[in-house]
Amino acid sequence: MGRLDGKTAIVTGGGAGIGRATSERFAAEGAKVIIAEINETNGAETAEAITAAGGQCRFVSTDVTQEETIKNMVAETITTFGRIDIVVNNAAVFVLHGIEATVEQWHQSLDTNVIGTSLVSKYAVEEMRKTGGGSIVNLGSISSFLGQPNFVTYNATKAAIATMTRCMALDLADDGIRVNAVCPGTIWTQIVEKNTAEVGLDRAAADADPDWGGACFLKRIADPSEVAAAILFFASDDASYCTGAHLMVDGGYSAQ
Ligand SMILES: NC(=O)c1ccc[n+]([C@@H]2O[C@H](COP(=O)([O-])OP(=O)(O)OC[C@H]3O[C@@H](n4cnc5c(N)ncnc54)[C@H](O)[C@@H]3O)[C@@H](O)[C@H]2O)c1
Repeated sequence: MGRLDGKTAIVTGGGAGIGRATSERFAAEGAKVIIAEINETNGAETAEAITAAGGQCRFVSTDVTQEETIKNMVAETITTFGRIDIVVNNAAVFVLHGIEATVEQWHQSLDTNVIGTSLVSKYAVEEMRKTGGGSIVNLGSISSFLGQPNFVTYNATKAAIATMTRCMALDLADDGIRVNAVCPGTIWTQIVEKNTAEVGLDRAAADADPDWGGACFLKRIADPSEVAAAILFFASDDASYCTGAHLMVDGGYSAQ
């Protein structure tokens, strides 16, 4: 028996990194999964791999900055699986600039990370209300709470996610919809792999490096599956009394 048997989940950005690991874990726990992803190659390939492994999964091409594609994705979810129980707002862009950021860079960051999260929730909630509730899991970050050099455009969006999570939890409580956030530290996904490679570090060296894995108590970078496990907790009925909460998955980084 899986922890998500009988439930349908939407995972935005489910074609790579944390979103892919979450989609795979959810399917293994019995959920029917919709991968709402802008990268058609990765979205389709992930859905195929999950299906080949015995899971129930469908890719729906989605750009969370485009309202019409979100509406279409929600409609396709209902047509395919009949209901929505879980939404994981995982899709994000890493627009990393200080105060010299242009208006275009600000829009790029805000449109995907903040407005995208809000709009996906808005249209999914309309369906979740019809079946008596559900769970929304937003992806925050250590960057929701900390100052980091030249990260103004990214951290502002992740701080917004933290506050949106609390406000949405309040607004949706009477609908039986819980809203929580998982806040990762440094996770081995494409952005971290690229940035460490640029300074000549492979995975083992990045784990040990004081600026990367070595910066947290556990002295290593995490795998995406370790974040997926925390997302699963909030998504599942095990978290029945959790709403408006933030769970740090950061190897102790923010506890320093
Ligand atoms: N990797 C980390 O170290 C880390 C740390 C803290 C927080 N996070 C958060 O975790 C989440 C996932 O991060 P990741 O490292 O796995 O990212 P990633 O870049 O590996 O994956 C993100 C996915 O989102 C998709 N996406 C981007 N824009 C989209 C859009 N407009 N519509 C639909 N899909 C879109 C991308 O195609 C990609 O598949 C993000 O919210 C990120 O802010 C990551």
